[in-house]
Amino acid sequence: MTHIAVLGSTNMDLVAYVEKAPQRGETVTGREFRTIPGGKGANQAIAAARAGATVSLIGAVGNDSFGARLRSTLEHSGVTTDHLRTTEGPSGTAHIVVDDEGGNAIVVIPGANGTVDHLVPGDEGLIASADALLLQLEIPLAAVLAGARTARGHGVRTVLTPAPAQPLPPELLTTVDLLVPNEHEAAALTGLTDPHSAATALLEQVPEVVVTLGAAGSLHAARGTEPFTVPAPRVTAVDSTGAGDTFVGTLAVALGEGRPMREALQWAATAAALSVQRPGASASMPYRSEIEARFTS
Ligand code: RIB
Ligand code: NA
Repeated sequence: MTHIAVLGSTNMDLVAYVEKAPQRGETVTGREFRTIPGGKGANQAIAAARAGATVSLIGAVGNDSFGARLRSTLEHSGVTTDHLRTTEGPSGTAHIVVDDEGGNAIVVIPGANGTVDHLVPGDEGLIASADALLLQLEIPLAAVLAGARTARGHGVRTVLTPAPAQPLPPELLTTVDLLVPNEHEAAALTGLTDPHSAATALLEQVPEVVVTLGAAGSLHAARGTEPFTVPAPRVTAVDSTGAGDTFVGTLAVALGEGRPMREALQWAATAAALSVQRPGASASMPYRSEIEARFTS
């Protein structure tokens, strides 16, 4: 079985479903409110576990009721939480507005995730034993960098989702094996709005890049190869929150199982397409049997 370690955030998503998101100074009446476990780290962990990997999450939740629910949701999804600390204070929260087109706007308050600024004894052994380490940017950069260095030192494949977009220390990019930005993050990192140009520019620092393009699929670029795109299944989105995390978590599983990159990208696109058709981040992530039932290569 593929073993995946995730170093990253866990948030309770506080989601307002509205017809159209409010403008500044405007008040709108929404339709429904839900609390749904999320956070980019937890989302990628749950996506990978449901897709059939053994998964451990390194991170922190607060000692509030959200923390307890986040931990139990992870465990119910099959994610090992031995390396998930409980810290004094609130859990991370994400304040999300989802509109009728399935698009969203998000404010993240880090809470306990902000305390994850270093690795603790035991984390290194976990990372060393994994087939891949998944990283995102909702915990302090110092820990992300420490994780990437540790994985590199043990020859473990490192996959970085550079979200939320922010300037990165050059060493981080040169220490990851696969970078998976969306179009906006690719543009933020390079100043280039065309995904092809951005991916090509990123190859100066990272050996392999996958730019996720939403409904348009994904673009793969690696040093010494021709870039190619993989389409996404056509579906109607109700909530795209966590679709990128579903894509990355399931991509890591497919690659860990030895599928070729193009097929792994199709598998991940199938999983992400399933997730956007249901509300919520972690709640919408498909199980392996559902991915296999829809998968056509
Ligand atoms: O990537 C989606 C996630 O971003 C949400 O679950 C929310 O927690 C935010 O962190
Ligand atoms: Na969803």
